[in-house]
Amino acid sequence: MDEQTRARLDDYVTSLYARPDAALAAIQDEAGRHALPQISLQPHEGRLLQVLARAVSARRIVEIGTLAGYSGTWLARALPDDGRLYTLELNPKHAAVARANFERAGVGGRVEVLEGDALALLDGLRARGPFDLVFIDADKERYPQYLDWAVDNLRVGGLVTAHNAFRHGGVLAPAADADRAMHAFNRALAEHPRLLATIIGVGDGMAVGIKLS
Ligand code: SAH
Ligand code: DHB
Ligand code: MG
Repeated sequence: MDEQTRARLDDYVTSLYARPDAALAAIQDEAGRHALPQISLQPHEGRLLQVLARAVSARRIVEIGTLAGYSGTWLARALPDDGRLYTLELNPKHAAVARANFERAGVGGRVEVLEGDALALLDGLRARGPFDLVFIDADKERYPQYLDWAVDNLRVGGLVTAHNAFRHGGVLAPAADADRAMHAFNRALAEHPRLLATIIGVGDGMAVGIKLS
């Protein structure tokens, strides 16, 4: 399939399953207004996460890397009313924009934005687990460490998911530290004795592993 066909099929999937509603559009508008980096999930990647979260009947979710709350809103929409999304963000400005966005999107009651370095915050989150889904989308160099935490803190049958598994092709011939870290993450996921895993080739690659034991 050529690149143009692939792009048209992405649009096809988006138009059928991931049409931006007013709340999602407002999140991206606010992100732009505050000059946040434009590195959120694409709509059809967000929809994929929502479907995955419902597939495991997720009630407790951890997201690493909040940005403006775009992917978090897709995840929160998969939760029941008494479910909880803990989303971790280092940058105070991103965290503030995200908190306002979650409120505006009507999911504020289900979402806690935790501010600080993810590794430190994750340590404190252990007590609130086990979790049904962990979504990794922050500093690529630490993906392998986030994976270890996820395996320790997921329930059996829970899912670890991670964005940018392809690094836009960078994992094929790693040039940057982040490419090498992502390849190390992908290999660790593939070889992990407690996971059944693959990469879903949607968008920039969504790595997914089910905790088996
Ligand atoms: N998941 C978001 C996009 C996340 S972009 C979405 O799709 O909408 C990555 C985010 O991770 C950025 O906001 C960045 O500030 C944050 N981040 C980077 N390193 C981090 C760290 N060590 N701990 C917590 N957050 C971090
Ligand atoms: C970057 C990070 C992401 O999570 C992403 O989806 C795209 C780009 C980045 O740090 O450049
Ligand atoms: Mg990403």
